[in-house]
Amino acid sequence: MLRVVVLVSGGGTNLQALIDGVQSGRIEDAQIVGVISNNAGAFALERARRAGIPGFCVSPKEYAERAEFHRALLEKLAGLEPDLIVLAGFLVNIPPEMVQTYRGRIINIHPSLIPSFCGKGYYGLKVHEAALARGVKVTGATVHVVDEGTDTGRILLQKAVEVKEGDTPEILQRRVMEEAEWQILPEAVARIAKGELL
Ligand code: GRF
Repeated sequence: MLRVVVLVSGGGTNLQALIDGVQSGRIEDAQIVGVISNNAGAFALERARRAGIPGFCVSPKEYAERAEFHRALLEKLAGLEPDLIVLAGFLVNIPPEMVQTYRGRIINIHPSLIPSFCGKGYYGLKVHEAALARGVKVTGATVHVVDEGTDTGRILLQKAVEVKEGDTPEILQRRVMEEAEWQILPEAVARIAKGELL
């Protein structure tokens, strides 16, 4: 049974896709054993609570030094004994020691077809604003391994999504979530639980 810990910061729709995937049987041999948010108000924590999954807030605001926050995050993670860590809209920079400790076992969902529209400053709506500004006809989402860089780890899965006439960043974000993110993130976890992809 793959022990999965999901790190979140916001609404948690990708977390919900994983919860639904486990409950529907689309994801077999995996259990979400914990959800950690840097933001106490994240609705993702409410989604975890409703699903009976232990939720924790580890906020940088609670610590005088960033190193103390990193230590608290690593301790919380260690206590959950994860086989896989999923960053699902986690907006905090991952401490290098976390990448080292869980090398090759941390994955992230990014709302573009990497290497387009990724790296520092490309998160949330900004990604879709950039795609629309560039005038791309196709965008999508990427699941990749997390390394010391920003959106630079090995690409595991991608799914393309059409950009339509009149799209706003919000409309495009929703389509990328529905047609790509909420599909390939559960697929990635399901296949990793079967010993594939990593
Ligand atoms: C998603 O767009 C995801 O691609 C990005 O952050 C957002 C998180 O949304 N990494 P949610 O919290 O999963 O709804």
